Amino acid sequence: MLSLWTSTLFFNFAPLLLTILQGASAAPTDVPSAASFYIPSIPHIHQYADHPLTMFGGHLSADPNLASASKTDVTPHIYFFMVKNRRTADRERIVFWFNGGPGCSSFDGAMMEVGPWRWDGKSEHDFYVKEGGWEEYSTVVFVDQPAGTGFSYTSTEKYIHTMDVAQSQFLQFLRNFYQVFPEYKNVDTYFAGESFAGQWIPYYADAVLNSTLNVPFKGVAIGNGWIDSKHQYPSYMEYALKTALFEEPDPGYKDVKEKLDACVAHLQSINDNPMLIEVCQAVLRAVMKVRSRVVNGKHMCINIYDIRLEDTAPACGMNWPPEMPQITNFLGRPEVVKALHAEAHPGSWRECRTDVHLAFHETTSESSSSVLPRVLSKIPVLIFAGDQDLICNYIGLENMIRSLTWNGGTGLGTVQTQSWAVNSVPAGTWVASRNLTYVKIFNGSHMAPWDVPHVTHDMMLRFMGMNFSAIVDGSARIPSTIGNEVKPVFVEQHQASQAPVTPAKTPEQDKAMWEAYYNAGSAGIVLVLVFAVIGTFVWCRIRRRRALSLPLHNTEDEAIPLNTRENESEEDVEETRQRKGKERAREPFADPPIFDVGDSDEEDYKQSSTNSSKLK
Ligand SMILES: *[C@@H]1O[C@H](CO)[C@@H](O)[C@H](O)[C@H]1NC(C)=O
Ligand SMILES: *[C@@H]1O[C@H](CO)[C@@H](O)[C@H](O)[C@H]1NC(C)=O
Ligand SMILES: *[C@@H]1O[C@H](CO)[C@@H](O)[C@H](O)[C@H]1NC(C)=O
Ligand SMILES: *[C@@H]1O[C@H](CO)[C@@H](O)[C@H](O)[C@H]1NC(C)=O
Repeated sequence: MLSLWTSTLFFNFAPLLLTILQGASAAPTDVPSAASFYIPSIPHIHQYADHPLTMFGGHLSADPNLASASKTDVTPHIYFFMVKNRRTADRERIVFWFNGGPGCSSFDGAMMEVGPWRWDGKSEHDFYVKEGGWEEYSTVVFVDQPAGTGFSYTSTEKYIHTMDVAQSQFLQFLRNFYQVFPEYKNVDTYFAGESFAGQWIPYYADAVLNSTLNVPFKGVAIGNGWIDSKHQYPSYMEYALKTALFEEPDPGYKDVKEKLDACVAHLQSINDNPMLIEVCQAVLRAVMKVRSRVVNGKHMCINIYDIRLEDTAPACGMNWPPEMPQITNFLGRPEVVKALHAEAHPGSWRECRTDVHLAFHETTSESSSSVLPRVLSKIPVLIFAGDQDLICNYIGLENMIRSLTWNGGTGLGTVQTQSWAVNSVPAGTWVASRNLTYVKIFNGSHMAPWDVPHVTHDMMLRFMGMNFSAIVDGSARIPSTIGNEVKPVFVEQHQASQAPVTPAKTPEQDKAMWEAYYNAGSAGIVLVLVFAVIGTFVWCRIRRRRALSLPLHNTEDEAIPLNTRENESEEDVEETRQRKGKERAREPFADPPIFDVGDSDEEDYKQSSTNSSKLK
């Protein structure tokens, strides 16, 4: 490694880094030092002094054809944020995490799900480090991809359209990552993510397994993933009936049934299995209509990510999770962007980018269920599903698994599904067959780690084959069982009492500690939900008001990065806004942006003219 640069780059600024990186691929020996990515601390994140986080982050080139790019080109750069494991586990592991979209940033995962910190529930932008994040025992790398998503960037005409380009860019990112952090080339490697990452992950895994990277790739985990249109679209009705969202005599049932029949007829008429099918989107929209109602003059609808909740129409879940405004605020602050080494990204961070989404050709890209069997023949796959999610619901995933053929059989076969409990509370069901593990998570939303962090952590540690007997401290010692199999615990009572240095904990103290761990997550959620009632209301109104005074020109954000087609897209946006205005006046559900979780008013307007799905 080039120690020469270490001191100058330690307080790195992105432009310099960029120059070096571009040089780097041209001359493979010139690699930026890992130290240039080191993040000593982040403003507004309150850490524990006794176990601070070890963090790295920044941009890496993701352009496999960098050598032929002209000097002035803005080429694809993928942003990553890495947190090293805080505790020693039985072995070293590294997990790459992906959120969905297409176009949603993995800071969702970092700041609300499997990452090290959460919003404190009261301030504008203060966060605290919590127990139970996946970085406790594994190094976790949150990846903003494809380029254009989150803090990643490229020129807009280079936004990816197809999966093969996404694969080659991600591979290039990984090659550069291992040049900077060669020590991870021999560490057990996992991919994990949720929602539309149900497409990214199998394709990326396939590409890595077929590459010359040669890392010890040990498995992939997909939560509430969109994996198989053919089986997931038709599941909306079944899920809605099963969870009693409506019943057959209800008004609206007929409409849902009609939309379902049209969808099924279409599915039977095609041979391929595209990620997005317009005719079938109507099924979900019809289900949402069934549960819409007017409360105090406000149109309410179901939260498509968590059927226990309602949201205002046409957001229907877009305003959720409730801490999104605080996260957007935090990631928009210059001092935070600087600390994260994200300054090379033009404009401000957004949770999901509609332009990245729209660029991707979902209607002509084949669902990842086609590559999943090839992945399963080489590595274990975990499919997990929070049971309260409608949009990528567990019924659809179960139907997908039932019809999937892998490793010499179709479906799970005769293996028995077992009950799974964490800290003596029913956590879900667990079943594994021929390298595929399927876990249903009770009381979990689309973003299950948001609801039940310790449960999903236990799941991931089990999937990664952690030797719990070797773990001395931390949340891996929260007791759990699958069927009759009890998780082994390291310290025997008599051993503990003999230990001279650490005083023995009584079983009561132990129990209290686990309960504290376990409840930390749920307590936070209750708090957050209380705020949600107030927060969501205020936020919606702010959004509405902003919408009214929307400027006719693209924001600085939209115009960057850097192409000559701004005028064209401006016209599109304007036209869309006008159309949308009329539709809204006519009927609130005329064309709802059902899957959109875009975080700006412009995004809402643009998105509403399409029927494409946005899956966090
Ligand atoms: C695997 O890699 C080889 C050579 O790198 C390539 O020819 C082949 O098309 C790849 N296969 C898949 C399924 O990606
Ligand atoms: C399952 O995964 C392992 C690697 O963990 C692989 O060696 C094996 O061939 C796969 N297939 C089956 C049927 O288990
Ligand atoms: C969680 O789910 C289980 C099983 O569906 C149910 O029995 C339990 O009451 C739920 N707990 C909460 C807190 O919702
Ligand atoms: C698990 O860890 C314990 C304690 O360190 C050790 O004795 C045992 O051999 C380990 N088991 C495996 C399968 O590695």
